[in-house]
Amino acid sequence: MKQCNVAIAGLGVVGAQTAQLLLNNQSSYATKTGANITLKAVSARSKGKDRGFDISSLHWCDNPVDLATMDDIDIVVEVMGGSDGPALALTKAALSAGKHVVTANKAMIALHGMELAKLAEDNNAQLCFESSVAGGIPALKILREGLAANDIQAVSGILNGTCNYILSTMEQTGRAFNDVLSEAQALGYAEADPTFDVDGIDAAHKLAILQSIAFAVQPNFDNLSITGIRAITDMDISYAAELGYRIRLIGRATAAGDAGVAPMLLPMGSALASVTGPTNAVNYEATPVQTISAMGPGAGAGPTASAVVADIMDIASGRNTYPFGRAAKDLASQSGNTSTAAQSSYYLRLRVTDEKGVLADVTDVLNACDMSIETLIQKQLEDGKDADLVMILHEASSENLVNACDKLKTMSVVGDMSLPMAVQK
Ligand code: HSE
Repeated sequence: MKQCNVAIAGLGVVGAQTAQLLLNNQSSYATKTGANITLKAVSARSKGKDRGFDISSLHWCDNPVDLATMDDIDIVVEVMGGSDGPALALTKAALSAGKHVVTANKAMIALHGMELAKLAEDNNAQLCFESSVAGGIPALKILREGLAANDIQAVSGILNGTCNYILSTMEQTGRAFNDVLSEAQALGYAEADPTFDVDGIDAAHKLAILQSIAFAVQPNFDNLSITGIRAITDMDISYAAELGYRIRLIGRATAAGDAGVAPMLLPMGSALASVTGPTNAVNYEATPVQTISAMGPGAGAGPTASAVVADIMDIASGRNTYPFGRAAKDLASQSGNTSTAAQSSYYLRLRVTDEKGVLADVTDVLNACDMSIETLIQKQLEDGKDADLVMILHEASSENLVNACDKLKTMSVVGDMSLPMAVQK
């Protein structure tokens, strides 16, 4: 039987789970792939740490980059993380040496995917990163292989489990943002630096990868518009509920070139609004298949290792695809930023001084920016002096929205203003 030797760099929760899957399931994976997939070598920060399984029979490297030049290794698994540094050095060295690389590193692929895809092609090596997007959901295989015959119109979804956990838990329990974030960190959903989660960066890394495969463009993280969830208050979550919506962090890229991550109001009955906890969901709008949705665990050891091992098994079986669905030379470069012309309805909350003429002044500003109110709730605050104006605005361009918000902010009667959020009808 064909021999396929694997090295793993990084024995955190994902690396350790990947190692255990390979060690415990060798014969079943051999039946499925026709190859004897054998874990041979590992590298991690601390050799002595108890990981719940025995690494004494495995070759140990203090420096992960040394795995790239080991003679009998066919596949290097990079699960250390970090867009640059040792992860990038190892990946480049391994591909340059003609070794296949499997990585869960969305930041590295979003920022350096083009260079790495070229390097893989030049060295006849495979570069696989299924686990980098939406954890256990085969989000890239659905798009690249399953929907290969289709024209994709849009790919969108809930791409960060931590944010979804925070938003849905705040909504269900009324607890504060920081309190729920600490819990998400303790549960192991959050990135090492949780600002990547709450500022939308992690979701944007994943969106850049989906966008590239969906629309044959070079992954370009810098081209995405990104808004995180830090500014979402429990007040907005409860006003949104009163209006029949839930707030979710959504990444969306379209064939027209719009691509971004931002919190949105979704109708309470819609599929994505009902996704709670660290679950991810990806929607594909395509022709001729129409709409496909996939939902599942987007973070954590088991789901991520499941996707890592599936990539290893693809390589062992001889299944070979271009990482972004076509040769690197056929990926178009992207220039300029996302257009601001796309129309959307918006949610906006203004805290105003509760006095005569204020609502008329607010509507005058909106009118001057070619915007108008579709639904309005006015809530008197307990102090008797202020009120919240909670509005759903009729469809307008994001450019008009920004102009209107800039003008509203300068009004002396307007105090606190919510993050303006697109509303899906
Ligand atoms: N921090 C990420 C999330 C982990 O919360 O979704 C998976 O990429």
